[in-house]
Amino acid sequence: TLRGPVLGLESSCDETAAAVLAPDGTILAEGVLSQEAEHATFGGVVPEIAARAHLAALPGLAERVMARAGVGYGDLGAVAATSGPGLIGGLIVGSGFGKGVAIARGLPFVAVNHLEAHALTARLPGLLPEGAPAFAYLLLLVSGGHCQCVAVEGLGRYRRLGTTLDDAVGEAFDKAAKLMGLPWPGGPHLERLAATGDARAVALPRPLFGRPGCDFSFSGLKTAVARAVTQGARHADVAASFQASVAAVLADRARHALAMMPGATALVVAGGVAANQAVRAALAGAAAQAGVPMLAPPLRLCTDNAVMVAWAGIERLRAGLTDGLDHAPRPRWPL
Ligand code: KG4
Ligand code: ZN
Repeated sequence: TLRGPVLGLESSCDETAAAVLAPDGTILAEGVLSQEAEHATFGGVVPEIAARAHLAALPGLAERVMARAGVGYGDLGAVAATSGPGLIGGLIVGSGFGKGVAIARGLPFVAVNHLEAHALTARLPGLLPEGAPAFAYLLLLVSGGHCQCVAVEGLGRYRRLGTTLDDAVGEAFDKAAKLMGLPWPGGPHLERLAATGDARAVALPRPLFGRPGCDFSFSGLKTAVARAVTQGARHADVAASFQASVAAVLADRARHALAMMPGATALVVAGGVAANQAVRAALAGAAAQAGVPMLAPPLRLCTDNAVMVAWAGIERLRAGLTDGLDHAPRPRWPL
């Protein structure tokens, strides 16, 4: 049994995050520091810079978040830290800090799988107006680092139905945006540019659309964007067409995934690309066709955060699952 609040820590990519949740899942305080500015000049996340930035930022952030929650280290009931998958330097920083707190206070430590944390976010009590979805539901994780369809059948019971054969969808947005001279990360910029363009003015492929299964592929689309840009197509039109293509592909893949999961209670979307309105609309259409609701956590909990890590920790602790201090962070850690 959990005797106090849970400190959650996230440091697997370029967000440093800490959160404190009460044992019932109530969010007491949360904070996220983005390293976007540190990486922007390089046009992508630089692992070594990320690790050092986590090291510089995490202890102070954790203390500020705990102060806001009115919780001292001595009040905690457990510590949960993302321990994979992700960039190893950041994972070592976050899990090492978490283990340090756990050792100092004799607390249980939970090594959280980042993907599991995304998968369970929708179950946070009181989060969604529609209520928490019952198992089993489909998770469509669409971020800069991940692109997969996961059947969430229960705690610790995940089945990956499909994944990307090349780039993650957020990565595809960022690469397409770069080809149009937009700053990194380009997804939001591309969406704004697309609003001023005509999707029908440029024909782009819809990779894997209509094919069996629910895998993804975006590298051919990126190549087609490069060609259109080189041939002098209006950037706004290319952006609009690219976005329409991605939205159509994601909706098609989600339809297939839902068909592979009879009895699914919902389509849950997570990841930064879930911020895209065209993507959201297409996915809502796919969910409606399958007769299930599309559920999207608020954006700050769709992107990388520590609330989801603390919550995954609580779910695991409730199931009696903890990890030893010898748990090694895992850069690759499939669900
Ligand atoms: O989940 P996230 O914040 O970080 C991880 O990758 O873990 O996702 C970031 C990705 C970036 O590739 C970014 O360009 C993309 O999500 N993104 C968007 C939008 N907002 C963020 N892509 C398309 N449209 C958006 N509005
Ligand atoms: Zn993530």
